[in-house]
Amino acid sequence: MTKIQYYFFFLIGILITRHSLGQINSHIPEVEILLEKMTLEEKIGQLNLLTPGGGVVTGAVVSKNVEAKIKAGQVGGLFGVSGPDKVRMAQEMAVNHTRLKIPLLIGADVIHGYQTTYPIPLGMSCSWDMDLMEEAAKMAAKEATADGIMWNFSPMVDIARDPRWGRIAEGAGEDPFLGSAIARAMVKGYQGQDLTAPNTMLACVKHLALYGASEAGRDYHSVDMSKIKMFNQYLPPYKAAVDAGVASVMSSFNDIDGIPASGNKWLLTELLRKRWGFVGFAVSDYTSVNEMVAHGLGDLQAVSSLALKAGLDMDMVGEGFLTTLKQSVEEGKVTEADVTQACRRVLVAKYKAGLFDDPFRYLDPNRPKRDILTAENRALARKLATRSFVLLKNHDQILPLQKSAKIALIGPLADSRNNMLGTWAPTGNPDLAVTILEGFKHVAPGADIQYAKGANISNDKDFAKKVNVFGPRIQIDKRPANLLLTEAIETAKKADVVVVVVGEATEMSGEAASRTDISIPESQKKLIKTLVDTGQPVAVVLMSGRPLTIREEFDLPIALLQVWHPGVEAGNAVADVVFGDYNPSGKLTATWPRNVGQIPIYHSVKNTGRPAPDEKFQKFTSNYLDAPNTPLFPFGYGLSYTTFEYSNLKLDKQEIHQNESLEIQVEVENTGNYDGEEVVQLYLRDVVRSITPPKRELKGFKKVFVKKGERKMVHLTLEPDDLKFYNGNLEFLSEQGAFEVFVGTDSNADLRTTFTLK
Ligand code: BGC
Repeated sequence: MTKIQYYFFFLIGILITRHSLGQINSHIPEVEILLEKMTLEEKIGQLNLLTPGGGVVTGAVVSKNVEAKIKAGQVGGLFGVSGPDKVRMAQEMAVNHTRLKIPLLIGADVIHGYQTTYPIPLGMSCSWDMDLMEEAAKMAAKEATADGIMWNFSPMVDIARDPRWGRIAEGAGEDPFLGSAIARAMVKGYQGQDLTAPNTMLACVKHLALYGASEAGRDYHSVDMSKIKMFNQYLPPYKAAVDAGVASVMSSFNDIDGIPASGNKWLLTELLRKRWGFVGFAVSDYTSVNEMVAHGLGDLQAVSSLALKAGLDMDMVGEGFLTTLKQSVEEGKVTEADVTQACRRVLVAKYKAGLFDDPFRYLDPNRPKRDILTAENRALARKLATRSFVLLKNHDQILPLQKSAKIALIGPLADSRNNMLGTWAPTGNPDLAVTILEGFKHVAPGADIQYAKGANISNDKDFAKKVNVFGPRIQIDKRPANLLLTEAIETAKKADVVVVVVGEATEMSGEAASRTDISIPESQKKLIKTLVDTGQPVAVVLMSGRPLTIREEFDLPIALLQVWHPGVEAGNAVADVVFGDYNPSGKLTATWPRNVGQIPIYHSVKNTGRPAPDEKFQKFTSNYLDAPNTPLFPFGYGLSYTTFEYSNLKLDKQEIHQNESLEIQVEVENTGNYDGEEVVQLYLRDVVRSITPPKRELKGFKKVFVKKGERKMVHLTLEPDDLKFYNGNLEFLSEQGAFEVFVGTDSNADLRTTFTLK
């Protein structure tokens, strides 16, 4: 092959790959022919996304007269409608009653599983298992499409470093490298190789951008951030999703550089389309176009035209596009070409989903029964849940328990079906969840298990009312708190071991569920302390949608297993780990602070000009008078029932050139008494840079299974891009000089070596 031939085929190869990923086909002849026929009103209709309000509603507005609007050609897509019959009804309205018979795009929030609810995303991320997460996304797409849904408002990839923010539950934590890997895995899982296949769906990466950096952890709050921080720390996961061919993007509620994301041209056009090459469509978040009025950017007509001009294509629920764009065209505030461009992008998405070939392709009435909530799907949810749990402490090896033990199973979350699924599971059904009590009985039928509630999740009625918006999550017992406690003590005393299941109710995290105090509620703190005071061994199973501040509990002589909200198979999965059928391997993907005052706290901090000595106070260095700088649990932390030792860290070269990769190997030995999985983590420090570098950054990981007594050589690779960063001019490059490599079990890894980039 000549050089020219080689480059020709290489180029064709790239084009084919990008085409199949949906990256270049924005001009589709069928779509162009259709656009020629469309009136301005019909085009504007395609930009309108409505919800009839059947599912979970996250704003004040619910769409009205949806049926009439569909028939009038004023609706491009719907969400909150599911099931082949209902979707068919809606689709028939669009296809049989409108002039051009354009089918609807049917969306949903399939955030952690469809009806087979997986653990919350923050929990799933702690598995560090990309294959498993891709498989989970694939399974969720299979279930959702069986119910007529072909567009998913997921993955949510907002980097979050503030656990006060309730939506930290919905993402992959604090790290851009891990977050990017997860974004890719999920887009691949949802979209597959062929978007027209009946079991794949269009993904929608959200929320572009920086939503997780809301000031003070308050939801929907302002964000103000330097471009350097954005590019290096917050934008990578969105970009990773775009590079993986994600079909759509959702704009966020917050402002960026003073302009809300939904009307931000720099964000939606300069960055997303021009710099990143995104060719899919951009949808607003729930009424986020209208919300620009409250942000202070003008009236509905002004903000709607601002959004369209910025590059937003579809307006979720607010109907600002529907009600004002025609007038804006007439007044010359936007052009018909702007409307046509947005409409083109929406139609291309419908084309990609195969809806023009067959608007009813996702509507096989036999599929729900065949594909949803199958034994296979539930087995996957159970497996994922066991991999998401993080063992935070194991005093005296209290865990795992014997399957024949006499167990006091105590706590307000031990028998609480309503709280197993976690936040943002609108497509799941809490009634189908396995409680912890049921799981224990199922997995350890030979154990003697006595249950007592012990405490309410919270005794505060006002607080309970705010949390119970989607159902009774905090149920305050009719019996007085003291009686619950006494019953718990008596139950504990009769047992060999106490397992107490405590933490947050489902809606104590999630959207519009920020907290300024992220400790365990007082009623449950008291319960834990009282049970420990009985002198019995106590294992705490902790549920939450965020890192909590648990300094006091951590100091007690207990075992502590963090299980997030584990999903539909909650009880079985918790029992699998508590009784040792699965040895926990989860690793934290967000740092756990000692107290709220340390927030924001994350592992990739900078050194500062006055770094403090670890743990020791020294005046005029960067530290606090009343707490160390270090967190309670660092990023990447998580114990196992066994122990791993690291040795023999080696690089294949001491010097590399730009565009060369580096091979790293390390030996991991299982020195304990159980087989187990370990997440080997690689951190990098760029010693000298043109902008201040973080002390260390995650740049590689591998999950390995090591039998007890076995030693395994683990290989990791640093690719040229792993050495790069965005400099002061926002160029992505690496700079010559020394690098330090750290490998180990968490972000404090101390096995260290160095190399030089020439
Ligand atoms: C959330 C989005 C979600 C949308 C539609 C909004 O309130 O921010 O994440 O996709 O509602 O349900």
